[in-house]
Amino acid sequence: MAIGSRAVSYANPACVKSVVVRSQSVPRWRALSSQSIARQQQQQNLTKTKKQKSSKCSNHSSTAAAQIHLLLSQFRQASATPLHRLRQLADAMTAEMHSGLMSEGGSEQLKMLPTYVENLPHGDEEGLFYAVDLGGTNFRVLRVQLGGKEKRIVKQEYQEVAIPPELMQGTSKELFDFIAKKLASFVAREGEGFEAHSGHVRELGFAFSFPVLQTSVKSGILVHWTKGFKINDAIGKDIVAAFEEAIGRKGDHIRVAALVNDTVGTLAGGRYWNEDTMLSVILGTGTNACYVERVDAVPKWRGAPPKSGEMIINMEWGNFRSPYLPRTFADEEVDIDSVNPGDQWFEKMISGMYLGEIVRCVLAKFAQEAALFGGPIISPKLLEPFSLGTPYVSKIHSDESADLTEVAKILEDVFEIRRTTFQERKIVHDICDIIAERGARLAAAGIVGILNKIGRFHGPTTTTNGSYLSSRRSKTVVAMDGGLYEHYTQYQVYMRAAIDEMLSETAAQSVVIELSKDGSGIGTALLAASHSQYHRF
Ligand code: BGC
Repeated sequence: MAIGSRAVSYANPACVKSVVVRSQSVPRWRALSSQSIARQQQQQNLTKTKKQKSSKCSNHSSTAAAQIHLLLSQFRQASATPLHRLRQLADAMTAEMHSGLMSEGGSEQLKMLPTYVENLPHGDEEGLFYAVDLGGTNFRVLRVQLGGKEKRIVKQEYQEVAIPPELMQGTSKELFDFIAKKLASFVAREGEGFEAHSGHVRELGFAFSFPVLQTSVKSGILVHWTKGFKINDAIGKDIVAAFEEAIGRKGDHIRVAALVNDTVGTLAGGRYWNEDTMLSVILGTGTNACYVERVDAVPKWRGAPPKSGEMIINMEWGNFRSPYLPRTFADEEVDIDSVNPGDQWFEKMISGMYLGEIVRCVLAKFAQEAALFGGPIISPKLLEPFSLGTPYVSKIHSDESADLTEVAKILEDVFEIRRTTFQERKIVHDICDIIAERGARLAAAGIVGILNKIGRFHGPTTTTNGSYLSSRRSKTVVAMDGGLYEHYTQYQVYMRAAIDEMLSETAAQSVVIELSKDGSGIGTALLAASHSQYHRF
């Protein structure tokens, strides 16, 4: 793609002038005085110099254009995820899963955390249950009236609350007091259609979407924070105890019946509607996956053998890393400037919190090094970390107008870059495409890695549990949740295409990705029901 003349003139302000200023011709009928002859001479010289300058400019501009092209093609190459690369990544994911299940710390990357959830909802759960879903910049409180097999979900209500940014890096008391307060006022508004069992304390499922080493189904130690949270005093502490203390300070009578990761809530919600649901993936602010594992494939499990013979494993795949990951200078920048440098490489390449930031880093480099947007003086907003949210990347990507008008608007609104050329907008569009496609294809490789692990396609001889899953199910449903996947259509398309590319036609047809209807919240409330102290199911 060639950079057109407007892009050229933006590359060097001097060129703009040389294009705009025109030489004035002297009318033939006027008698020429020696003065005017001299002036004309001067004028001709000036025009000559300008012509020379102009040709220098166009040389300079075509150099800038060539440089942008070079940068773009280098970036495209560095981000490439050809099929063989995806297969290597899927295999590396499978291998790490095995290591992580062997012993605590067996894999430096994948924690493969047993969740103590042995049974997923069956559909016969009944009663009023609450859920608190904390995992990103917002949290949700939710209540649901479950009506058993026949009536299923009778009524539900939820409220979404933004977490003030200062609480994401303050103290655990401040954070949990804030959540407990919102929960208390939500519970106080419990109205018609919701019926708490008399004499029962209300129960809630707590979806806490960070790496937690569970010590029971309702207790667990926070290993570390992700997604921009950094509350040091909470690390190594029991999260449920901290939350219940805060609830106690508000004088509420509500108890945590289950502590779950959002992936586990999503899996439970998926299974409630479709019993072929075997794994779940979150593609939102952060990313992660969990799946149903046979407990005999978990050598590090020291607890009593679950009656079901199965255990849900929270992989914490966001921390996956591999030499096969196509990392670029932008990924390095994003990582170094994050609150958790060195951690969560996979997450930082594929999830909603980071895609916009990767795009911003690439644009800043192109602007600085190749005068994209008429550099070298570039908009300060372009240098401001996280100034471009991923929803904008999705909007840029879906701009199909002939002129890329939406792209122009976003560049102006977000970065205050006005009067962009079509070619510049096209480059921005291409960069978003490269980054989103890479993220979606990497996520697909992760999913195929899990399918391989559970033996879905390799048959009985390759894995211990292969025969179990292969023989019983003709479909494997992946429950999916998260705003990135939900709202970024092209990301969905790329992910599905990569899964299909990696699998045989029959295998690909058996993999169904189902966007979870109600998010992880309902699933978490369902798990509170199935782990209720008044359990009657
Ligand atoms: C967390 C996971 C979580 C995922 C999606 C990651 O940053 O470590 O526990 O499931 O985000 O919310």
